[in-house]
Amino acid sequence: MFEHTELFSRTVGETTDIVQKEMYTFQDKAGRDLTLRPEGTAPVVRAFLEHGLDSGALPRKLFYLGPMFRYEKPQAGRYREFVQYGVEVLGSRSPYSDVEVILLSVRIAEELGLKGTSLFINTIGCPVCRKKHKEDLIKHLSEKASALCLDCQNRLEKNPLRVMDCKNPACRVITAGAPSIHDYLCPDCKDHWDTLKSILASMGLEYSVDPALVRGLDYYTNTVFELKWPPLGAQDTIIGGGRYDRLVEELGGKPLPGVGFAMGLERLLLAAEKGEKPIDPHVRADCFVVTPDSEDKEVSREIAIRGFQLVKDFRSLGLSCDFDPLRRSIKAQMKHANRLNARYVVILGEEELKKNAVAIRSMEHGWQKEVALGLVLGFMKEELSGGSN
Ligand code: HAM
Repeated sequence: MFEHTELFSRTVGETTDIVQKEMYTFQDKAGRDLTLRPEGTAPVVRAFLEHGLDSGALPRKLFYLGPMFRYEKPQAGRYREFVQYGVEVLGSRSPYSDVEVILLSVRIAEELGLKGTSLFINTIGCPVCRKKHKEDLIKHLSEKASALCLDCQNRLEKNPLRVMDCKNPACRVITAGAPSIHDYLCPDCKDHWDTLKSILASMGLEYSVDPALVRGLDYYTNTVFELKWPPLGAQDTIIGGGRYDRLVEELGGKPLPGVGFAMGLERLLLAAEKGEKPIDPHVRADCFVVTPDSEDKEVSREIAIRGFQLVKDFRSLGLSCDFDPLRRSIKAQMKHANRLNARYVVILGEEELKKNAVAIRSMEHGWQKEVALGLVLGFMKEELSGGSN
Protein backbone atom coordinates (compact mmCIF):
# COMPACT_ATOMS: atom_id res chain seq x y z
CA MET A 1 0.00 0.00 0.00
CA PHE A 2 2.92 2.34 0.58
CA GLU A 3 6.31 2.52 -1.04
CA HIS A 4 9.46 4.59 -0.80
CA THR A 5 8.61 8.01 -2.23
CA GLU A 6 11.61 7.78 -4.52
CA LEU A 7 10.00 4.90 -6.43
CA PHE A 8 7.39 7.29 -7.80
CA SER A 9 9.47 10.44 -8.12
CA ARG A 10 12.00 8.51 -10.25
CA THR A 11 9.55 6.67 -12.48
CA VAL A 12 6.25 8.54 -12.61
CA GLY A 13 8.42 11.65 -12.78
CA GLU A 14 9.38 14.69 -10.68
CA THR A 15 7.57 17.09 -12.99
CA THR A 16 4.28 15.19 -13.23
CA ASP A 17 1.10 16.34 -11.49
CA ILE A 18 0.95 13.03 -9.64
CA VAL A 19 4.33 13.56 -7.98
CA GLN A 20 4.18 17.32 -7.63
CA LYS A 21 0.63 17.68 -6.34
CA GLU A 22 -1.12 14.42 -5.70
CA MET A 23 0.95 12.17 -3.48
CA TYR A 24 0.24 11.44 0.16
CA THR A 25 3.80 11.49 1.41
CA PHE A 26 4.92 11.10 4.99
CA GLN A 27 7.91 10.17 7.09
CA ASP A 28 7.79 7.06 9.25
CA LYS A 29 9.35 6.85 12.70
CA ALA A 30 12.71 5.97 11.21
CA GLY A 31 12.61 9.12 9.07
CA ARG A 32 12.05 7.26 5.80
CA ASP A 33 10.14 9.06 3.06
CA LEU A 34 7.09 6.98 2.23
CA THR A 35 4.13 7.49 -0.08
CA LEU A 36 0.69 5.92 -0.31
CA ARG A 37 0.92 4.48 -3.80
CA PRO A 38 -0.75 6.67 -6.41
CA GLU A 39 -0.53 3.95 -9.08
CA GLY A 40 0.41 0.31 -9.49
CA THR A 41 2.89 -0.06 -12.35
CA ALA A 42 6.05 1.14 -10.59
CA PRO A 43 5.24 -0.96 -7.47
CA VAL A 44 4.57 -4.03 -9.65
CA VAL A 45 7.94 -3.64 -11.37
CA ARG A 46 9.62 -3.05 -8.00
CA ALA A 47 8.10 -6.28 -6.67
CA PHE A 48 8.81 -8.11 -9.94
CA LEU A 49 12.53 -7.38 -9.53
CA GLU A 50 12.61 -7.84 -5.76
CA HIS A 51 11.16 -11.35 -6.08
CA GLY A 52 13.27 -12.41 -9.05
CA LEU A 53 10.35 -12.86 -11.46
CA ASP A 54 12.58 -11.59 -14.26
CA SER A 55 14.46 -14.89 -14.23
CA GLY A 56 11.35 -16.98 -14.94
CA ALA A 57 9.47 -17.60 -18.18
CA LEU A 58 8.99 -14.44 -20.20
CA PRO A 59 6.85 -12.64 -21.09
CA ARG A 60 5.40 -12.59 -17.61
CA LYS A 61 1.78 -11.55 -17.31
CA LEU A 62 0.70 -10.05 -14.01
CA PHE A 63 -2.43 -8.42 -12.66
CA TYR A 64 -3.24 -6.47 -9.53
CA LEU A 65 -6.23 -5.06 -7.74
CA GLY A 66 -6.02 -2.65 -4.87
CA PRO A 67 -6.46 0.84 -3.47
CA MET A 68 -4.48 3.79 -4.84
CA PHE A 69 -4.31 7.30 -3.40
CA ARG A 70 -4.13 10.66 -5.11
CA TYR A 71 -4.71 14.06 -3.59
CA GLU A 72 -7.00 15.28 -6.34
CA LYS A 73 -10.09 17.45 -6.22
CA PRO A 74 -12.83 14.89 -5.59
CA GLN A 75 -15.76 14.77 -7.99
CA ALA A 76 -17.94 12.09 -9.57
CA GLY A 77 -15.53 9.39 -10.79
CA ARG A 78 -12.49 10.99 -9.17
CA TYR A 79 -11.61 10.13 -5.62
CA ARG A 80 -8.68 10.44 -3.28
CA GLU A 81 -8.80 6.74 -2.54
CA PHE A 82 -9.84 4.55 -5.43
CA VAL A 83 -9.36 0.96 -6.51
CA GLN A 84 -7.43 0.07 -9.62
CA TYR A 85 -7.40 -3.20 -11.50
CA GLY A 86 -4.35 -3.41 -13.69
CA VAL A 87 -2.42 -5.80 -15.92
CA GLU A 88 1.23 -5.71 -16.89
CA VAL A 89 3.04 -7.82 -19.52
CA LEU A 90 6.76 -7.85 -18.87
CA GLY A 91 9.36 -9.08 -21.33
CA SER A 92 7.85 -8.33 -24.74
CA ARG A 93 8.38 -5.39 -27.04
CA SER A 94 6.20 -6.94 -29.71
CA PRO A 95 3.30 -4.71 -30.76
CA TYR A 96 1.19 -7.87 -30.51
CA SER A 97 1.54 -7.49 -26.72
CA ASP A 98 0.32 -3.89 -26.93
CA VAL A 99 -2.70 -5.06 -28.91
CA GLU A 100 -3.20 -7.98 -26.52
CA VAL A 101 -3.63 -5.61 -23.55
CA ILE A 102 -5.69 -3.12 -25.56
CA LEU A 103 -8.01 -5.96 -26.68
CA LEU A 104 -8.39 -7.08 -23.07
CA SER A 105 -9.32 -3.58 -21.95
CA VAL A 106 -11.88 -3.26 -24.73
CA ARG A 107 -13.34 -6.66 -23.89
CA ILE A 108 -13.75 -5.75 -20.23
CA ALA A 109 -15.73 -2.67 -21.23
CA GLU A 110 -17.84 -4.74 -23.64
CA GLU A 111 -18.55 -7.41 -21.02
CA LEU A 112 -19.77 -4.66 -18.72
CA GLY A 113 -22.27 -3.59 -21.37
CA LEU A 114 -20.55 -0.31 -22.23
CA LYS A 115 -21.49 0.38 -25.82
CA GLY A 116 -19.82 3.24 -27.67
CA THR A 117 -16.45 3.33 -25.94
CA SER A 118 -13.78 5.25 -27.85
CA LEU A 119 -10.23 4.00 -28.07
CA PHE A 120 -7.56 6.67 -28.41
CA ILE A 121 -4.00 5.72 -29.17
CA ASN A 122 -0.74 7.55 -29.69
CA THR A 123 2.98 6.99 -29.70
CA ILE A 124 5.41 9.13 -27.76
CA GLY A 125 8.53 7.50 -29.20
CA CYS A 126 11.63 6.56 -27.27
CA PRO A 127 14.40 8.71 -25.71
CA VAL A 128 16.30 8.56 -29.02
CA CYS A 129 13.57 10.16 -31.12
CA ARG A 130 12.43 12.37 -28.27
CA LYS A 131 15.79 14.14 -28.01
CA LYS A 132 15.38 16.32 -31.11
CA HIS A 133 11.64 16.59 -30.54
CA LYS A 134 12.29 17.87 -27.03
CA GLU A 135 14.67 20.56 -28.32
CA ASP A 136 12.16 21.75 -30.92
CA LEU A 137 9.31 21.58 -28.44
CA ILE A 138 11.19 23.75 -25.95
CA LYS A 139 11.96 26.23 -28.74
CA HIS A 140 8.29 26.38 -29.77
CA LEU A 141 6.93 26.69 -26.25
CA SER A 142 9.57 29.19 -25.10
CA GLU A 143 8.38 31.70 -27.68
CA LYS A 144 5.05 31.85 -25.84
CA ALA A 145 6.30 30.95 -22.38
CA SER A 146 4.75 33.93 -20.62
CA ALA A 147 1.28 32.80 -21.70
CA LEU A 148 1.75 29.35 -20.17
CA CYS A 149 0.48 28.56 -16.67
CA LEU A 150 3.04 28.79 -13.87
CA ASP A 151 3.37 25.00 -13.60
CA CYS A 152 4.14 24.73 -17.29
CA GLN A 153 6.63 27.59 -17.18
CA ASN A 154 8.50 25.61 -14.56
CA ARG A 155 8.23 22.33 -16.48
CA LEU A 156 9.14 23.79 -19.82
CA GLU A 157 12.90 23.20 -19.77
CA LYS A 158 12.91 19.97 -17.77
CA ASN A 159 10.02 18.13 -19.30
CA PRO A 160 8.15 19.88 -22.13
CA LEU A 161 6.08 16.76 -22.80
CA ARG A 162 4.28 17.50 -19.53
CA VAL A 163 3.23 20.87 -20.95
CA MET A 164 1.46 18.89 -23.69
CA ASP A 165 -0.54 17.16 -20.97
CA CYS A 166 -1.70 20.37 -19.23
CA LYS A 167 -5.45 20.84 -19.11
CA ASN A 168 -5.23 24.64 -18.72
CA PRO A 169 -7.07 26.23 -21.72
CA ALA A 170 -4.34 28.85 -22.26
CA CYS A 171 -1.65 26.14 -22.42
CA ARG A 172 -3.82 24.08 -24.76
CA VAL A 173 -3.92 26.90 -27.30
CA ILE A 174 -0.12 27.06 -27.29
CA THR A 175 0.44 23.30 -27.42
CA ALA A 176 -2.02 22.91 -30.32
CA GLY A 177 0.56 24.09 -32.85
CA ALA A 178 3.56 22.39 -31.24
CA PRO A 179 5.86 20.04 -33.18
CA SER A 180 4.47 16.51 -33.27
CA ILE A 181 6.57 13.53 -32.15
CA HIS A 182 5.21 11.69 -35.20
CA ASP A 183 7.58 13.73 -37.36
CA TYR A 184 10.57 12.66 -35.25
CA LEU A 185 10.09 8.89 -34.81
CA CYS A 186 13.24 6.81 -35.28
CA PRO A 187 12.90 3.86 -37.73
CA ASP A 188 12.38 1.33 -34.93
CA CYS A 189 9.65 3.38 -33.23
CA LYS A 190 7.99 4.15 -36.55
CA ASP A 191 7.92 0.48 -37.41
CA HIS A 192 6.47 -0.36 -33.98
CA TRP A 193 3.79 2.30 -34.41
CA ASP A 194 2.83 1.29 -37.95
CA THR A 195 2.70 -2.40 -37.04
CA LEU A 196 0.57 -1.66 -33.98
CA LYS A 197 -1.97 0.24 -36.06
CA SER A 198 -2.11 -2.47 -38.72
CA ILE A 199 -2.68 -5.21 -36.10
CA LEU A 200 -5.45 -3.14 -34.49
CA ALA A 201 -7.07 -2.70 -37.89
CA SER A 202 -6.81 -6.42 -38.68
CA MET A 203 -8.52 -7.20 -35.39
CA GLY A 204 -11.39 -4.98 -36.47
CA LEU A 205 -10.80 -2.55 -33.62
CA GLU A 206 -11.86 0.99 -34.24
CA TYR A 207 -9.50 3.61 -32.87
CA SER A 208 -8.57 7.25 -33.19
CA VAL A 209 -5.02 8.53 -33.17
CA ASP A 210 -4.83 11.44 -30.73
CA PRO A 211 -1.46 13.18 -31.19
CA ALA A 212 -2.13 15.18 -28.00
CA LEU A 213 -2.39 12.03 -25.88
CA VAL A 214 0.83 11.84 -23.85
CA ARG A 215 -0.55 10.51 -20.51
CA GLY A 216 0.45 11.91 -17.16
CA LEU A 217 3.25 9.53 -16.23
CA ASP A 218 6.86 9.83 -17.36
CA TYR A 219 7.72 6.14 -17.67
CA TYR A 220 5.90 5.64 -20.96
CA THR A 221 7.69 4.95 -24.24
CA ASN A 222 6.03 4.34 -27.61
CA THR A 223 2.41 3.28 -27.26
CA VAL A 224 -0.02 5.11 -25.01
CA PHE A 225 -3.76 4.54 -25.04
CA GLU A 226 -6.98 5.43 -23.29
CA LEU A 227 -10.44 4.02 -23.45
CA LYS A 228 -13.15 6.59 -22.88
CA TRP A 229 -16.85 6.26 -22.31
CA PRO A 230 -18.38 9.71 -23.01
CA PRO A 231 -21.66 9.30 -21.02
CA LEU A 232 -19.52 9.55 -17.87
CA GLY A 233 -18.93 13.25 -18.45
CA ALA A 234 -15.78 15.01 -17.22
CA GLN A 235 -14.04 11.89 -15.87
CA ASP A 236 -14.75 9.68 -18.85
CA THR A 237 -11.43 7.83 -19.14
CA ILE A 238 -12.21 4.39 -17.79
CA ILE A 239 -8.93 2.72 -18.75
CA GLY A 240 -5.46 4.08 -19.38
CA GLY A 241 -2.24 2.35 -20.28
CA GLY A 242 0.82 2.11 -22.40
CA ARG A 243 4.30 0.78 -22.97
CA TYR A 244 7.22 1.37 -20.63
CA ASP A 245 10.37 -0.16 -22.09
CA ARG A 246 12.81 1.62 -19.74
CA LEU A 247 11.09 1.15 -16.40
CA VAL A 248 12.58 -2.20 -15.39
CA GLU A 249 16.07 -0.94 -16.16
CA GLU A 250 15.43 2.33 -14.33
CA LEU A 251 14.56 0.32 -11.26
CA GLY A 252 17.78 -1.65 -11.40
CA GLY A 253 16.83 -4.65 -13.55
CA LYS A 254 18.19 -5.78 -16.90
CA PRO A 255 16.57 -4.05 -19.88
CA LEU A 256 13.11 -5.56 -20.14
CA PRO A 257 10.19 -3.99 -21.99
CA GLY A 258 6.68 -3.83 -20.57
CA VAL A 259 3.15 -2.83 -21.45
CA GLY A 260 -0.05 -2.67 -19.44
CA PHE A 261 -3.12 -0.76 -18.38
CA ALA A 262 -5.10 0.11 -15.28
CA MET A 263 -8.70 0.98 -14.73
CA GLY A 264 -10.49 2.63 -11.87
CA LEU A 265 -13.16 0.32 -10.55
CA GLU A 266 -15.35 3.10 -9.13
CA ARG A 267 -15.40 4.79 -12.51
CA LEU A 268 -16.14 1.50 -14.19
CA LEU A 269 -19.02 0.81 -11.80
CA LEU A 270 -20.45 4.29 -12.43
CA ALA A 271 -20.29 3.50 -16.13
CA ALA A 272 -21.77 0.02 -15.71
CA GLU A 273 -24.75 1.50 -13.83
CA LYS A 274 -25.49 3.63 -16.87
CA GLY A 275 -24.62 0.88 -19.36
CA GLU A 276 -26.65 -1.87 -20.92
CA LYS A 277 -25.97 -4.57 -18.34
CA PRO A 278 -26.44 -2.87 -14.95
CA ILE A 279 -24.73 -4.85 -12.23
CA ASP A 280 -27.18 -6.48 -9.82
CA PRO A 281 -26.01 -5.26 -6.43
CA HIS A 282 -27.94 -8.02 -4.66
CA VAL A 283 -25.76 -10.94 -3.72
CA ARG A 284 -27.47 -14.08 -4.86
CA ALA A 285 -27.18 -17.17 -2.66
CA ASP A 286 -27.13 -20.46 -4.55
CA CYS A 287 -29.10 -22.22 -1.87
CA PHE A 288 -30.58 -21.77 1.55
CA VAL A 289 -31.00 -24.69 3.93
CA VAL A 290 -34.25 -24.52 5.90
CA THR A 291 -34.29 -26.53 9.12
CA PRO A 292 -37.71 -26.27 10.78
CA ASP A 293 -37.92 -26.86 14.50
CA SER A 294 -39.57 -30.01 15.84
CA GLU A 295 -41.40 -30.56 19.12
CA ASP A 296 -39.13 -33.51 19.84
CA LYS A 297 -35.89 -31.96 21.12
CA GLU A 298 -33.73 -34.87 19.91
CA VAL A 299 -35.20 -34.76 16.41
CA SER A 300 -34.89 -30.99 16.37
CA ARG A 301 -31.23 -31.23 17.22
CA GLU A 302 -30.67 -33.94 14.61
CA ILE A 303 -32.29 -31.70 11.96
CA ALA A 304 -30.10 -28.74 12.95
CA ILE A 305 -26.90 -30.79 12.84
CA ARG A 306 -27.72 -32.50 9.51
CA GLY A 307 -28.80 -29.18 8.02
CA PHE A 308 -25.63 -27.48 9.16
CA GLN A 309 -23.59 -30.37 7.73
CA LEU A 310 -25.31 -29.75 4.38
CA VAL A 311 -24.41 -26.04 4.53
CA LYS A 312 -20.79 -26.99 5.19
CA ASP A 313 -20.77 -29.52 2.31
CA PHE A 314 -22.42 -27.10 -0.14
CA ARG A 315 -19.85 -24.47 0.76
CA SER A 316 -17.02 -26.97 0.23
CA LEU A 317 -18.40 -27.47 -3.27
CA GLY A 318 -17.96 -23.75 -3.81
CA LEU A 319 -21.67 -22.91 -3.62
CA SER A 320 -22.81 -19.84 -1.74
CA CYS A 321 -25.12 -21.25 0.84
CA ASP A 322 -26.77 -19.90 3.96
CA PHE A 323 -29.09 -21.01 6.78
CA ASP A 324 -30.90 -19.55 9.77
CA PRO A 325 -28.82 -20.04 12.92
CA LEU A 326 -31.74 -18.63 14.94
CA ARG A 327 -34.09 -21.33 13.66
CA ARG A 328 -37.10 -19.11 13.42
CA SER A 329 -40.42 -20.44 12.10
CA ILE A 330 -40.38 -22.18 8.73
CA LYS A 331 -42.21 -19.16 7.28
CA ALA A 332 -39.54 -16.79 8.62
CA GLN A 333 -36.77 -19.03 7.26
CA MET A 334 -38.40 -19.06 3.82
CA LYS A 335 -38.71 -15.27 3.96
CA HIS A 336 -35.03 -15.00 4.83
CA ALA A 337 -34.16 -17.25 1.86
CA ASN A 338 -36.22 -14.96 -0.36
CA ARG A 339 -34.46 -11.88 0.93
CA LEU A 340 -31.12 -13.49 0.08
CA ASN A 341 -32.51 -14.10 -3.38
CA ALA A 342 -31.61 -17.80 -3.01
CA ARG A 343 -32.01 -19.81 -6.17
CA TYR A 344 -32.83 -23.03 -4.33
CA VAL A 345 -34.20 -23.80 -0.91
CA VAL A 346 -33.26 -27.12 0.65
CA ILE A 347 -35.76 -28.12 3.30
CA LEU A 348 -34.86 -30.67 5.94
CA GLY A 349 -37.83 -31.13 8.27
CA GLU A 350 -39.08 -33.97 10.42
CA GLU A 351 -40.79 -35.74 7.49
CA GLU A 352 -37.69 -35.49 5.32
CA LEU A 353 -35.43 -36.67 8.11
CA LYS A 354 -37.54 -39.81 8.52
CA LYS A 355 -37.12 -40.57 4.81
CA ASN A 356 -33.44 -39.67 4.88
CA ALA A 357 -34.16 -37.09 2.20
CA VAL A 358 -34.57 -33.35 1.62
CA ALA A 359 -37.09 -31.31 -0.31
CA ILE A 360 -35.49 -29.04 -2.86
CA ARG A 361 -37.44 -26.10 -4.16
CA SER A 362 -36.42 -24.05 -7.16
CA MET A 363 -37.30 -20.47 -6.30
CA GLU A 364 -36.98 -19.48 -9.96
CA HIS A 365 -39.13 -22.22 -11.49
CA GLY A 366 -41.41 -23.01 -8.59
CA TRP A 367 -41.00 -26.82 -8.65
CA GLN A 368 -40.21 -28.92 -5.59
CA LYS A 369 -38.51 -32.33 -5.65
CA GLU A 370 -37.59 -34.84 -3.02
CA VAL A 371 -33.98 -35.95 -3.20
CA ALA A 372 -32.21 -38.61 -1.08
CA LEU A 373 -29.74 -37.05 1.37
CA GLY A 374 -26.88 -39.04 -0.13
CA LEU A 375 -27.58 -37.60 -3.60
CA VAL A 376 -28.27 -34.00 -2.68
CA LEU A 377 -24.75 -32.65 -3.30
CA GLY A 378 -24.56 -34.13 -6.79
CA PHE A 379 -28.09 -32.97 -7.55
CA MET A 380 -27.37 -29.36 -6.57
CA LYS A 381 -24.11 -29.31 -8.47
CA GLU A 382 -25.89 -30.52 -11.58
CA GLU A 383 -28.74 -28.02 -11.12
CA LEU A 384 -26.44 -25.04 -10.65
CA SER A 385 -24.32 -25.88 -13.67
CA GLY A 386 -27.52 -25.66 -15.69
CA GLY A 387 -27.87 -29.47 -15.90
CA SER A 388 -31.52 -30.47 -15.67
CA ASN A 389 -33.01 -27.08 -16.57
P1 HAM B 1 -3.77 6.36 -14.89
O1 HAM B 1 -4.30 6.86 -16.20
O2 HAM B 1 -3.16 7.36 -14.00
O3 HAM B 1 -2.74 5.21 -15.24
O4 HAM B 1 -4.93 5.63 -14.12
C1 HAM B 1 -5.63 4.56 -14.72
C2 HAM B 1 -7.11 4.63 -14.40
O5 HAM B 1 -7.31 4.74 -12.99
C3 HAM B 1 -7.83 5.83 -14.97
O6 HAM B 1 -8.20 5.63 -16.30
C4 HAM B 1 -9.05 5.90 -14.08
O7 HAM B 1 -10.03 4.95 -14.48
C5 HAM B 1 -8.48 5.47 -12.73
N1 HAM B 1 -8.20 6.64 -11.89
C6 HAM B 1 -7.09 7.42 -11.87
N2 HAM B 1 -7.19 8.37 -10.94
C7 HAM B 1 -8.38 8.20 -10.33
C8 HAM B 1 -9.06 8.86 -9.25
N3 HAM B 1 -8.53 9.89 -8.59
N4 HAM B 1 -10.28 8.39 -8.89
C9 HAM B 1 -10.84 7.34 -9.53
N5 HAM B 1 -10.23 6.67 -10.54
C10 HAM B 1 -9.03 7.09 -10.93
C11 HAM B 1 -2.04 4.51 -14.30
O8 HAM B 1 -2.24 4.56 -13.12
C12 HAM B 1 -1.03 3.56 -14.91
N6 HAM B 1 -0.33 2.86 -13.84
C13 HAM B 1 -1.70 2.60 -15.88
C14 HAM B 1 -0.77 1.63 -16.50
C15 HAM B 1 -0.58 0.33 -16.17
N7 HAM B 1 0.07 1.87 -17.50
C16 HAM B 1 0.75 0.78 -17.79
N8 HAM B 1 0.38 -0.16 -16.96
